[in-house]
Amino acid sequence: MSEETGVFVSNFIDHVRDRFQFPERVYVFDTTLRDGEQMPGVCYTLEEKLAIARQLDKLGVDVIEAGFPVNSEEEAEAVAKIAAERLDAKICGLARCVKVDIDVCLKCDVDRVHIFIGTSDIHLKWKLKMSEEKALQRAVEHVEYVKCHGVECEFSCEDATRTPLERLVKFYTAVESAGADVINVPDTVGCIEPTAMEYLISRLREHVSIPISVHCHNDMGLATANTLAGVKAGASQVHVTVNGLGERAGNASLEQVITTLEALYKVKTGVRLELLTETSRLVERFSMIKMPPNYPVVGDNAFAHEAGIHVHGVLERAACYEPLSPELVGQRRRIVMGKHTGKHAVSNFIRALFKVNEQQLQTIVDRVKELSAKKKKITEDDVIAIAQEVLGMLSKEKRAVNLSEIVVVTGNKITPTASVQLEVGEERKIAAGMGVGPVDAASNAIQRALGEELALMNYKLEAISGGTNALASVEVVVEDPKGNVAKGVAVSGDIVMASVSAIIEAINHLYLKRALKVGRG
Ligand code: KIV
Ligand code: ZN
Repeated sequence: MSEETGVFVSNFIDHVRDRFQFPERVYVFDTTLRDGEQMPGVCYTLEEKLAIARQLDKLGVDVIEAGFPVNSEEEAEAVAKIAAERLDAKICGLARCVKVDIDVCLKCDVDRVHIFIGTSDIHLKWKLKMSEEKALQRAVEHVEYVKCHGVECEFSCEDATRTPLERLVKFYTAVESAGADVINVPDTVGCIEPTAMEYLISRLREHVSIPISVHCHNDMGLATANTLAGVKAGASQVHVTVNGLGERAGNASLEQVITTLEALYKVKTGVRLELLTETSRLVERFSMIKMPPNYPVVGDNAFAHEAGIHVHGVLERAACYEPLSPELVGQRRRIVMGKHTGKHAVSNFIRALFKVNEQQLQTIVDRVKELSAKKKKITEDDVIAIAQEVLGMLSKEKRAVNLSEIVVVTGNKITPTASVQLEVGEERKIAAGMGVGPVDAASNAIQRALGEELALMNYKLEAISGGTNALASVEVVVEDPKGNVAKGVAVSGDIVMASVSAIIEAINHLYLKRALKVGRG
């Protein structure tokens, strides 16, 4: 355990370390843009793919599987554009053991072609309708085809974990002789478990000398454990995806696998851990798959503490209830005020952010207590909002952004357009925007006036009285590109005005939170 390194994990690892066959360095093969994009509902634009690839490169992954180019012209274009970026990471394209698939990869100018063929009885009989011998011949022929074009070749026996061991040995030794650079062992339907994975990789290591990679799916929630088991047995490459996105229940999560390798096992991966959270947020935004708060390492609650005893311990020494310091993985510690939190913690939190006198502090604490009696969970946002109100920070003069004028034009034959005039401190900012509807147009105009790109993460509209003149209550959550989030609520008889006021309120909260350096709500 070391407070200097920010890693406070158990030393029992040292009692069992000699049972493992850890490689010197683990190579990270990221398949967020290929298997990750196969997740139902996920579809990135070309710009988003490029932004993800650049971020993965900055993060320090070794290989980026940029797509399955034969899938479509758009996919091939994206792979080619990513390859043209000349990133430090190697760019890989996926191909079946089919020449045209490989040709399309080569045309994209990739550094590596990852080819696969099903080898289990189920795949041979039902999917490929092919004999084992024919599949083996195809595998060898296509590895040779890739290699004669002077690029790296990674070969996968698809459904390896349901393929007999002798058959896997036959395929993998044959492709090694044919020139493959890496063999990958996919747990295609996520059905292996850690001890079996250790066994499988150990047996394969007795027969092949090129690097072995593992590719695990999360059908039983074991993808991370199985990937680590493969590494413990000597696999030197891991296939992972950001946020564990992927087919069905997903793939092994990059954040979990890398953090465990680096922090728990002290195995080097070349990944910049401090960029894990921002990478996760970027993919969360583009994939529109929101991470659950209790998601390990990068989830909102991964370093959040609520219970009185925990908060007290953490305030004395964070290591009491944290395995790692949050900064190590680009996170931050959050103290969640709830019915379990004592006055001590609320006071500490407030004093760290605001200049308050005793009387103001007491009023804030009383208001927090009052609210916690009614509400199950009080977030830092709620406490900050209470403090801002008590300290008069939400008055018009103190708000960073005020709306002075807005004009919205909409109709059935025109594109909705909005023009806004904002007061931002001493400055007046004017801009116009278009959108799919009047609220979208107004939101775009506001963002343009501020020169900020903000994502509207959540938009909730409720009528709080009946009839066409009902009062509308709008709640919005905005997020900036750094993952800072803030909420705004407003009520008006006009839906557009309620929405605009809620957006302006959320932006004011966001600016205040950024000034206070408390981002993620
Ligand atoms: O899960 C799988 O088997 C795959 C292969 C293409 C490697 O994604
Ligand atoms: Zn897969």
